[in-house]
Amino acid sequence: MTDAPRGVSAARGGAATETPILVMVGAPGAGKGTQTVRLAERLGLPSVSTGELFRTALRDGTALGEHVRPYLETGRLVPDDVTIEVIASRLAEPDAARGVILDGFPRTRAQAEALDHLARRLGFRVTAALYVQVELDELVRRLSGRRVCTGGGNHIYHVDQRPSRAEGICDIDGSALEVRLDDRPDTIRQRLERQLPPMYDVIDHYTGTGVLRSIRGDRPVDEVTEELLRSIAARASAA
Ligand code: AP5
Repeated sequence: MTDAPRGVSAARGGAATETPILVMVGAPGAGKGTQTVRLAERLGLPSVSTGELFRTALRDGTALGEHVRPYLETGRLVPDDVTIEVIASRLAEPDAARGVILDGFPRTRAQAEALDHLARRLGFRVTAALYVQVELDELVRRLSGRRVCTGGGNHIYHVDQRPSRAEGICDIDGSALEVRLDDRPDTIRQRLERQLPPMYDVIDHYTGTGVLRSIRGDRPVDEVTEELLRSIAARASAA
């Protein structure tokens, strides 16, 4: 059972039926990944996380994985050209034809502009940019306790707030859980320092295009999901 609001289940085509792209915006640790998995299920849309695509490439030892390793290890953003190419090929896959939720892309103004360009070319449109806002202290607390599934499904846990039933094992697919490379204390600080300024450029971009919605992310996971769904429905009926 899905909750796809009007406009979110639209097919590719003219202005009223462009394929919707929902963009999740927020600082590292704001809960974008956690919420994207839930929204994808509720709306029946595929989700694409650039961070997860990069981590999978790293685990699989591909050329892309080796290329992005130093960036992920030090909390720096992967160069725009690499990231844009990864998204362009992902949006060309058949399942994206129904629409897509992007988690962690765009992260810079150049990426946001490239996405607009790509969307126009492919018959997509960014219908909502959902900014999940969380205070800095809470971001550090969340990142410090995070554990992630190694099975590739972006299943996310927290040692205190959202522990797995069996320690170190994913509830959903039984894969081992791990601490992400970039969740070490020194890398957490560097990521936040480096990644917040370009994130504000992305927020400016979507404020300018009129699709930004801000949501308080410092509430229980279910409440954040419900507010995101309300915001998406409001954007869809405004479109
Ligand atoms: P990426 O994987 O995108 O990481 P991120 O954006 O830094 O975001 P996080 O995954 O750290 O946090 P999140 O907001 O998804 O929070 P989560 O749901 O996990 O990117 C990793 C790296 O890849 C980047 O640093 C960069 O190097 C590179 N990269 C990726 N995209 C790129 C791009 N477009 N351009 C260039 N480089 C790129 O939640 C965090 C914790 O909080 C979890 O433990 C969770 O259980 C808990 N939690 C979540 N919600 C709540 C809640 N409401 N209450 C209490 N706890 C909560």
